[in-house]
Amino acid sequence: MIVTIDGPAGAGKSSVALKLAENLGFFFLDTGAMYRCVTLACMRAQVDLHDPAATLEIANCCQIDLARGSVALNRLDVTREIRNPAVAKSIKAIAENPEIRELMVQQQRRICTGQDCVTEGRDQGTVAFPNAECKIFLTATAEERARRRYQQLLDAGIDADFDEILIQQNQRDANDSNRLTGPLIAAPDAIVVATDGMSEQQVLDKLLEIVRSRRSGPSSQSVTK
Ligand code: C5P
Repeated sequence: MIVTIDGPAGAGKSSVALKLAENLGFFFLDTGAMYRCVTLACMRAQVDLHDPAATLEIANCCQIDLARGSVALNRLDVTREIRNPAVAKSIKAIAENPEIRELMVQQQRRICTGQDCVTEGRDQGTVAFPNAECKIFLTATAEERARRRYQQLLDAGIDADFDEILIQQNQRDANDSNRLTGPLIAAPDAIVVATDGMSEQQVLDKLLEIVRSRRSGPSSQSVTK
């Protein structure tokens, strides 16, 4: 069974998708980590990120391994490095490159062949797995998502500016929604879960309920909260 979880930055997809996969005993595929790896590889190679042929060549040479909780690029651990804000800032040109997207989608399909997966990203229910048995679109208002990020940083002892977080998040949302290939959009048959005011445990319980209902027989419905 393939469970796709798409949604905007800061909706809490990664942590809840990982927990969902653990609960179900499914493989967890973090597709954002794949785009982050290609971006990091291009930055290291100092190629022009806006040169599609050059970045595609780098992408073709990236061996990305996504084991539970860690990310390796060409057999070296990059789990922390790909989360560097400099990578997130540079990712746009990579994520907009249709040939790199095609390469990533092929790899995602290969990884999920023959095993149960929870796959998380922006285009998983629309492009990568249009026939997935269970599609979820996880979202929350921009203010709620920025507030969570702000709190996370404060909890980690990092000084943060709420307005700046909101501005950057809105920029990422716009970049992800407006690209021509694989834009951020809910699949028509995705169940939309708006997580405003919900704890992570409540979101996880809701997703488990959705997956279990899909396993016992598909039905089209729209859930908010
Ligand atoms: O999910 P995460 O924030 O790690 O993703 C980083 C970036 O990778 C996103 O902002 C988006 O531009 C890109 N991405 C994508 N398609 C996916 C997953 C991520 O374009 N399936």
